[in-house]
Amino acid sequence: MKLTRRTLTKALASASLTGLLPAAAFAQNKIVLGFAQVGAESEWRTANTESIKSSAAAAGIDLKFSDAQQKQENQIKAIRSYIAQKVDVIAFSPVVETGWDTVLLEAKAAKIPVVLTDRSVNSKDTSLYVTFMGSDFIEEGRKAGKWLVEKMKDNKGPINIVELQGTVGSAPAIDRKKGFEEIIKADPKFKITRSQTGDFTRAKGKEVMEAFLKADKNINVLFAHNDDMAIGAIQAIEEAGLKPAKDITIISIDAVKGAFEAMIAGKLNVSVECSPLLGPQLMSAVKDIKAGKSLPKRIVTEEGIFPMEVAAKEFPSRKY
Ligand code: AHR
Repeated sequence: MKLTRRTLTKALASASLTGLLPAAAFAQNKIVLGFAQVGAESEWRTANTESIKSSAAAAGIDLKFSDAQQKQENQIKAIRSYIAQKVDVIAFSPVVETGWDTVLLEAKAAKIPVVLTDRSVNSKDTSLYVTFMGSDFIEEGRKAGKWLVEKMKDNKGPINIVELQGTVGSAPAIDRKKGFEEIIKADPKFKITRSQTGDFTRAKGKEVMEAFLKADKNINVLFAHNDDMAIGAIQAIEEAGLKPAKDITIISIDAVKGAFEAMIAGKLNVSVECSPLLGPQLMSAVKDIKAGKSLPKRIVTEEGIFPMEVAAKEFPSRKY
């Protein structure tokens, strides 16, 4: 029998099945994906990590996973280690938009395709990655702005808005702010009076909201770039003796289960959906890349918006 890659694979598979070879040896034929995650900063991120891990297992892809603890240097280190390990594909969700060209050029030189998930990079050279799959963050900001404009249509203003921004320099923080401002600027009664980063975490959301409340008795609306910061801020609002969602209208983004619980409790007015369930799409893209198929440069996730009035009805079907 001629020894080709195919006959060798078959022989290894049956040796593995009959116990003559450890399964790990046969597993060497699996596609290897190196994934450099941002961190574990939010409920959203936890759901995203779970989606990637479970989809890789279901797709039979060998996943190498690292958590960068929201530090760009850690993500760069992880990507370099995947290059050194000669993985088949690298995927990552860039913590910030800029500063990736050097390491992406290294991946390109090593002929390892790169997929961006969730967040994109701000690079002129789009040949540095195969595709970017994830939400349209500008549109999420617009949805938040449109909801507010409608909600306040009979209010003459002024309407003072405080903003809890996501991680400085990250795509969702930049784009959600942009989309929201684009909508509210049409009416001068809306004014963003304070804006600071809460780094997408509950703890920082609470801390920054406490500072806003101490400095300012005139807050009508809170726009939080994610649910975790809104949930932290709700605590600060209650501790200041105010009623969240009544004394201060609260808008956030993600639509995680924690936000639905807050809406059902009457403490959050609305959450714009941002889906973290990118795992299945990523695994099929990885397989397509390995099969030599071409992919669209941008794959946009479809999302909705959930005001508190529909929260109880929608909650049972929420997957994250
Ligand atoms: O990049 C997606 C954002 O990152 C989510 O809105 C936020 O919760 C997460 O940490």
